[in-house]
Amino acid sequence: MNKKTSKRIGILTAGGDCPGINAAIRGVGKTAIVKYGMEVIGFSSGFSGLINKEYSILEENQLSGILTLGGTILGTSREKPFKKRTRKFSDIDKPTLIKKHYAELELDCLVCIGGNGTQKTAAKLTSNGLNIIGIPKTIDNDVWGTDVTFGFDSALGIATEAIDRLHSTANSHKRIMVIEIMGHDAGWLALYAGMAGGGDVILIPEIEYELDVIYNYLENRAAKKKSYSIVVVAEGILKPKLKSAARFISQKIRKHTGLETRETILGYVQRGGSPNAMDRILATRFGSYAAELIAKDNYGLMVSKRGDDISSVPLHEVGGNLRTVPIDHSLIKKARGLGICMGDYCVPLS
Ligand code: F6P
Repeated sequence: MNKKTSKRIGILTAGGDCPGINAAIRGVGKTAIVKYGMEVIGFSSGFSGLINKEYSILEENQLSGILTLGGTILGTSREKPFKKRTRKFSDIDKPTLIKKHYAELELDCLVCIGGNGTQKTAAKLTSNGLNIIGIPKTIDNDVWGTDVTFGFDSALGIATEAIDRLHSTANSHKRIMVIEIMGHDAGWLALYAGMAGGGDVILIPEIEYELDVIYNYLENRAAKKKSYSIVVVAEGILKPKLKSAARFISQKIRKHTGLETRETILGYVQRGGSPNAMDRILATRFGSYAAELIAKDNYGLMVSKRGDDISSVPLHEVGGNLRTVPIDHSLIKKARGLGICMGDYCVPLS
């Protein structure tokens, strides 16, 4: 590593990948290099790269051509440095290794791009005296302190298109189609995709469902000659998540109503591919704003979006919190008003 002549920042990407991460890396890196003349290094595979001191220098040309790339050029992992001590690195524990390598590389700041777990680790590293900036990303949209995370809008488009496609096959076969949407313990993606895709039943972890309500609703639809139904379920409605939520609900419907039912588990396609335009913009705004905070030596913060403004919240307020769907959310009220079943009770079909 050359003798440091200007600010040197490290970037890592951790947790589940999503569309837009590379746009965020580009936003931080290019702003830091072009506007502020900073040096930028990228750690491999999330916090593992920092623990193992595996990194690469990110020059401006390494940041070109990545705006539209899915995934993360740095790689990611679900390494949680504070989770447990390890003897793998002799008797030094992971947080100590992180602080040691941060100092050896003469970093002025570490940018952590990730979801809840990442921001929780970022908050702990801040408490351990490191200069940290968090950037929230996840298709789940469940990071506390920001109205939205990049990755969500792209995943919403993917999930909505999948539901659109299920309508034609369900109609051809006069079937009930159950589709499982990601989202971890939050129902944002399932709620929004269910509404955008015209779901008839939408089940989210925040609303306790009753199977009899679902059976009666679907039987009513069949009795009123509705030729098919679409059931959208968030993966997190089953606790513990020992099996697929869609498979569980589909089997129950088939068994109790006799209606022909199939299920689709959408899975990782929701996290793949190029970010859509909105996520490219949001990720770029987040990344650029992070570089501005660093230029002002403003640390211990997570970049966030409030309304249309990009600002920041203290990391210690984010760590350990989850942003779930409020049960009085306006979209839930609209769904009920449309006669959509949310699993707990349904407005009777007129
Ligand atoms: O957090 C994003 C996410 O896709 C969740 O929606 C999902 O539950 C989880 O990651 C899957 O984790 P993994 O990538 O470790 O299988």
